Amino acid sequence: MTSLVIPRVIGHRGAKAYAPENTLSSIHAAADLGCEWVEVDVKLSKDSEAIIFHDEELIRCTGVNGLVKDFALAELREMDAGSWYGESFLNERIPTLEELLNTVLERGMGVNLEIKPCPGREKETAEVMLDVATRIWPDDAPPPLVSSFQHVSLETAMDMMEEWPRGFLMDEHLENWQELAQYLNAATININGNTATRDQIEEYMEYQKPILAYTINDQQKAKELVRWGVDAVFSDNPDTIMEILSPKH
Ligand code: G3P
Ligand code: MG
Repeated sequence: MTSLVIPRVIGHRGAKAYAPENTLSSIHAAADLGCEWVEVDVKLSKDSEAIIFHDEELIRCTGVNGLVKDFALAELREMDAGSWYGESFLNERIPTLEELLNTVLERGMGVNLEIKPCPGREKETAEVMLDVATRIWPDDAPPPLVSSFQHVSLETAMDMMEEWPRGFLMDEHLENWQELAQYLNAATININGNTATRDQIEEYMEYQKPILAYTINDQQKAKELVRWGVDAVFSDNPDTIMEILSPKH
């Protein structure tokens, strides 16, 4: 396996502070700011196509009432996923995973694919995502980091593509995190940087793998986390954080 090289700052949902999250514009915004990596959320349409979208509900980012899982890809593609953010993004589309990966590759970036299944679709979402991503992603490019809060999704990713690194995501501290991370052979520990304590971070450091913290938009907080032992942060405004963190890999 190629060794995992993670930059200090990863653009969250692209560069969420500058463009509608999880859209191709957001990926381009992150690239324009100099991000080496972006993080995006992957879920499935009703007809089991992999798309890039965060919420289970459509309302916040499209203005449409309803759940993502109840709409086919063709219907989702009719929706305007940009103007909620700003008029200049009118008619921005919900990207397919394929479009997203091609854009990331065109811009020469790395990617963290967070498997964000709608409830009950934990295994299927991982399967479809890995099918698409392994078909598109070149063998000679550093592989995507595949993360999830859902252990079944990570287990599926491990079974399908063991060589691709997995990020063990935690919102709150889990007592049995180390057992789970070891079972899943996690390459990174991805934590909520706004709630994690210094003691918890010290405990995660025992695992001796990179610690990634989300979602850090404040310079002082980013500095503090790095001082405590965090290796990289996800940020909506990655430019602001890159300004103050050294680009150590
Ligand atoms: O993967 C890091 C972060 O994106 C996890 O939380 O809710 O922003 O997807 P969320
Ligand atoms: Mg995410």
